Amino acid sequence: MTHSLKTAFFLLFVLSAVGCGDSNHSKITPSNDGFDSPVSGKVDFQNIQSQVLEKYDCTRCHSSYRSFSVASANAEKILERMSRQPGEVGFMPQGGSKRASRGDLAILQKWINDGTPEINEPDEPGDGEDDPVEPITTPISFEMVSNEVLEKRCNTCHTQFRTYRYVKNNADRILSFVKSGQMPLSPRNNQIAEMKDVEKALLEVWVNAGAPEFADTPAEDVEPLPLEPTWISLQENIFGPRCVMCHSQNNRRGPIDISTYEAFEEQAEDLFDMADPFNSPFIGAIIAREEQDFLDPMPAEWARIPLEPVSQEELLVIEEWIRRGRPSGL
Ligand code: HEC
Ligand code: HEC
Ligand code: HEC
Repeated sequence: MTHSLKTAFFLLFVLSAVGCGDSNHSKITPSNDGFDSPVSGKVDFQNIQSQVLEKYDCTRCHSSYRSFSVASANAEKILERMSRQPGEVGFMPQGGSKRASRGDLAILQKWINDGTPEINEPDEPGDGEDDPVEPITTPISFEMVSNEVLEKRCNTCHTQFRTYRYVKNNADRILSFVKSGQMPLSPRNNQIAEMKDVEKALLEVWVNAGAPEFADTPAEDVEPLPLEPTWISLQENIFGPRCVMCHSQNNRRGPIDISTYEAFEEQAEDLFDMADPFNSPFIGAIIAREEQDFLDPMPAEWARIPLEPVSQEELLVIEEWIRRGRPSGL
């Protein structure tokens, strides 16, 4: 491209950006519509949006892909899912009956090969390795944070993060542990695990916006559940924040699985004494009742992050819950 042509091209881009959508943005076409054939011209995020993400309806379900940072961080996964066969598990677009054209997949491949540029600008200095994350300007919903951050990095251990009410009411705390680098841990060895900058940024922008449930409505307060003798209340107030991270199917630092009502009930015979609720081994473990061979009070005091002990009042509610036959309250 000559210099003047490049300038004209860039101007066209700016015009289309401030004008009416992307109809003027140059449509990139592969030179002979074959997956492996080279794509002529540079591919940027706007091409990817119009020729892939919007065209194949991805953004209907993955609205976070409208954000450059998120689409860029997921580019290889996007290509991989779109390259599967329709009908195969995990094929995207989900429920779709046809694969994207080879040409459009080639464009996506080219974007990845070029390092997923945001704007088609000639010859940027540096190789972009230490590029800061682009500021995220799209409004973010709980669903996006849930899919892009919590499910990927936290929920195997913190199953309580699956409810909006819980995350909303603990948003600052959740963010602070991520920012301080104390979380996430790796389910493999319980050591500090990696987390991408874009994921941290997504979480931070969302929390700072007041942790709204939906992208298009401002955040509203959500009442936490009061402490009562039901599974759902105990889970939210005690077991979620102080027990499940060590007692679940996925992170068995401790024996028994407290992460779901069903799992809990399966172990009921060993844990509860219905004739004398306070004598239940479950309560014995919490208060370290020596004659039942429980030596460490629960939550375990050796947790790296100190967890609040179960209070006298909480213990009475747990006892009452056992007395009432352990209602789920769900
Ligand atoms: C009808 C809703 C829907 C549409 C449309 C859709 N997806 Fe998905 N997508 C999902 C759901 C639900 C999942 C989670 C289940 C799974 O992993 O298969 C998912 C998962 C994914 C994943 C894996 C996410 C991860 O972090 O592992 C990628 C990548 C993806 N989709 C890309 C796309 C792309 C690209 C398109 C458009 C071509 C698309 N999706 C269209 C619903 C959709
Ligand atoms: C491999 C399991 C694991 C993963 C994954 C994990 N954590 Fe944790 N988390 C723990 C454990 C275990 C503790 C209890 C303290 C300890 O022993 O370090 C904890 C404690 C916490 C606490 C303090 C207790 C509470 O619930 O208020 C917060 C907040 C937290 N983690 C947030 C996160 C966030 C956010 C992520 C994801 C970005 C995450 N964790 C990922 C295992 C995990
Ligand atoms: C930091 C990890 C950790 C946390 C948090 C934790 N536990 Fe434990 N738990 C353990 C370990 C490990 C054991 C095995 C006994 C031991 O070494 O103390 C255990 C044992 C138990 C047992 C005995 C199971 C059996 O049948 O032997 C019960 C019941 C229990 N915990 C309940 C809880 C409850 C309730 C909480 C929250 C209030 C909790 N735990 C929080 C790690 C943890």
